[in-house]
Amino acid sequence: MRQLLYISSSTLPGNMADIEEILEESQRHNAADGITGLLWSDGTHFLQVLEGEHDHVGATMGRILSDHRHSAIVVLRDEAVAAREFGEWSMVHRRADAPADAYDAQMRRLLENASEPVRERFLNLIATGER
Ligand SMILES: Cc1cc2nc3c(=O)[nH]c(=O)nc-3n(C[C@H](O)[C@H](O)[C@H](O)COP(=O)(O)O)c2cc1C
Repeated sequence: MRQLLYISSSTLPGNMADIEEILEESQRHNAADGITGLLWSDGTHFLQVLEGEHDHVGATMGRILSDHRHSAIVVLRDEAVAAREFGEWSMVHRRADAPADAYDAQMRRLLENASEPVRERFLNLIATGER
């Protein structure tokens, strides 16, 4: 099982229609390809974990890399893992004006089974907005 984690900067104006389109495409492809993971966005950055069979993760990442809806894509981690840490596909999008509490709780729940380095990256980014 391959696990890949990257961060990128959004080039989108930040409206929900764009995010919903990404979500719809991702759900469709990922279900067919056995890809699970998590896509997080605060409207400025994306942070995504992809998990699945080695070549499926590679093909998915190949498409994502050439997508102009984001830039400055940096792979933070690309490793073999014994088992999936994110059992399903989910996406968390925090609107700038949404209250933090419910959203933070949801992220913590989704990160429950994630390895320490992955969890730390997410929680750091959420807390500070920093890479
Ligand atoms: C931040 C971000 C995350 C994405 N995540 C996925 C993903 O997990 N799986 C996927 O298939 N496409 C994802 N996409 C979309 C792909 O880049 C690509 O547009 C899509 O797979 C093409 O789908 P289509 O061939 O059906 O048009 C993502 C795009 C962005 C900008």
